[in-house]
This record gives sequence, C-alpha cells and structure tokens, in this order.
Amino acid sequence: MCTKAFFCAFVICVLLCKSETDFVQAIFFAQTLWFVLCGKLKNPQSGHRSNNKHTQTLFIHFLMSSSLSHVATNLAGRNCVITGASSGIGHCIAQTFGRLGMNMAILARSEDKLQVLARECHQLSPQPIQVHVIPTDMSDKQSVDSSVDTITQVFDHKVHYLINCAGVMENRSCSVVESDADDWENTLMVNLVNTMRLTQKLSRMIVESKDQGAIVNIGSMSGTMVGSGVPAYYASKHGIRAFSHNLYDEIRSQGTKVSVIEPGMVNTPMISSSGTLDPSKMIQTSDIADAVLYVLTSSPTVCPVEIVLRPQRPVRKD
Ligand SMILES: NC(=O)c1ccc[n+]([C@@H]2O[C@H](COP(=O)([O-])OP(=O)(O)OC[C@H]3O[C@@H](n4cnc5c(N)ncnc54)[C@H](OP(=O)(O)O)[C@@H]3O)[C@@H](O)[C@H]2O)c1
Repeated sequence: MCTKAFFCAFVICVLLCKSETDFVQAIFFAQTLWFVLCGKLKNPQSGHRSNNKHTQTLFIHFLMSSSLSHVATNLAGRNCVITGASSGIGHCIAQTFGRLGMNMAILARSEDKLQVLARECHQLSPQPIQVHVIPTDMSDKQSVDSSVDTITQVFDHKVHYLINCAGVMENRSCSVVESDADDWENTLMVNLVNTMRLTQKLSRMIVESKDQGAIVNIGSMSGTMVGSGVPAYYASKHGIRAFSHNLYDEIRSQGTKVSVIEPGMVNTPMISSSGTLDPSKMIQTSDIADAVLYVLTSSPTVCPVEIVLRPQRPVRKD
C-alpha cells in the first residue's frame, strides 16, 4: 500500500513537472505522501498523522521544499563552515543549511549545544549529511589552528563556504576611559583577529575548490557608524568590514564571493530583551539566514559585497 502510494504520487508529479525544480518537488511530495499514509497505517489508534514525528518532519520538509527546492538544488552536498553556531544567528544559519542538505562543520565553545544542533540538522535534512562538531575558542589562535586542521581533514581539503558568525560584545556601560582593556582584547580577538586568521586559512581551500565558493562575514551596523559604550566592538566591526572589502578585491577574480552583512538589532541572546526593547520588532535570525542564502545563490556575475539590514519598525516597545 505504502509503496503503491509513493509510486502513484511520484508518477503524477513527474508527469506534471516542467522543470528540474518541479522534479525535486515531485520527489519531496511523493516521499511525504508515502510517509503520511504509512504513518496513518502504523498508528491506527490515534488516526492522526501529526502524531507520527517522522511524518511530521517530512511534511515540514515538503512545505519548505516548495520555497527552497530551487536553492536546495544548488547547495545540497556542499561543504560549509559556520562559526558561532551554538547560538543566535549562527545557530539559525546551521538549521537552514541542514534543511537544504548541506554538509557542515559547526564551531563554538559550547560543545553540548553543538551536539544538540548537529542532531537537529540531521533530522531536518532531506538527505544524509555530514555535520562535524568542532569545539573552538575563537579567542585562542592555537584552538583556531587546530580546528582548521580538523576541518581540512574531515572535508578532505574541500570547503565551499565559510560563514563567520562568532562574536562577543564587551560590557555595554564601559566608556573608553573606564573600560577594562582585557575585555577589549577578547572582543578584538574573537570578532576580528582570529576571524581573520580562520578566514585566511580556509580561503585558500575555498578559492582552490574553483566552485563558486563564498565567505560571508556577519558584521554589524556598528561597522559603519559609531556611538559610545562599546569601543572594542565598534573597532572590531569596522575592522571586519574593511577586511571583507580587502579580501573581496583580492579573490574576486578567482570566482569566490566575499560579503559582509551588517544588521541592526537582531533578536538573539546577545541583545537583552528586558526593558524598553520589543524582540518581535527586531530583525529575526531567519532574516539573516535569508541574506546569507542570497549571497550563496547569487549569479556568478555578481557579488553582494555589503548587505545592510535594519529593523523595519522602531524596536522600542510602544
Ligand atoms: N544580535 C545583534 O543584534 C547583532 C547585530 C549585529 C551583528 N551581530 C553579530 O552577529 C554575530 C552573532 O551574534 P548573535 O547575535 O547571534 O549572538 P549570540 O547569540 O550571543 O551568539 C554568539 C556566538 O558566538 C560564539 N562565541 C562567542 N565567543 C566565542 C569564542 N571565544 N570562541 C568561539 N565562539 C564564540 C558563541 O558560542 P559559544 O559561547 O558557545 O562559544 C555563539 O555561538 C556576532 O558577530 C555579532 O556581533 C549581532
């Protein structure tokens, strides 16, 4: 019964499809129908297909595939490195890449959170993928170098994309005069110096893959304007913007894209939601993931070198 359902759905969809994109959707649809029917058959007491976790996951895959299948066709099976994957923006990008069937090396200090994320990505992916958990302290150059060795080994020297999300912000209330200079050092090492170090080492592999690779740095609106209170954060984000433009200039002719995304306030643990700010009005992490996908899937004749994202509405509570 199950096999017949899959076969019938597949044949109908293939007959209706007009393009490669439709064909991918046909497979998703047939797979989903198959599991919906099988799920019902296996749970006669409940009769609710949503009670079958596997069925539910595949149904979500199908819904996602309607909008993402054209992207999936391009990105599935590609090797990607994401820093700062344990939380916020990096975490959301990893989930998005999981849905698209991309292989990943996920980096951060919190190994336990990365392990949970890795399991989630395996479940989200429509096909078997590699998800390598690589605990890394971006404030420590030895840790970064050792992670580069691991990445090189697990991906056998072939990396297509690097998404630099790891970042910290020093104590908000500090003026330049009152700041703790050790705090500056940590912010600059994580956000700038070791991000540059990791990028330098991986960019060789990305360029050598000769496969339309991309490096995306998560900068900030603090990289284009300056206020007061977080001097090292401003310096690091101005630095990463300059570094991105510099690297773009250097490797653009080899076909590798380099982009810096500069968001305003994003709804993540980095921004305290207490007080006067409304998290629902901030940029959401999925908005940043969309911007990253735009870079990765943009035509070979264009590079979105700098993407500025601002909240649509003022983020203060009414
Ligand atoms: N949220 C915003 O409003 C906003 C706006 C503009 C730009 N950004 C930028 O977006 C990026 C991501 O921030 P987020 O908002 O997603 O913040 P988040 O939720 O706090 O995530 C920060 C990530 O960086 C990692 N990280 C911090 N220190 C690290 C270290 N020493 N070694 C390795 N990884 C480290 C954290 O992992 P572990 O703690 O597990 O190591 C975590 O995965 C940052 O570069 C940030 O500057 C954020």
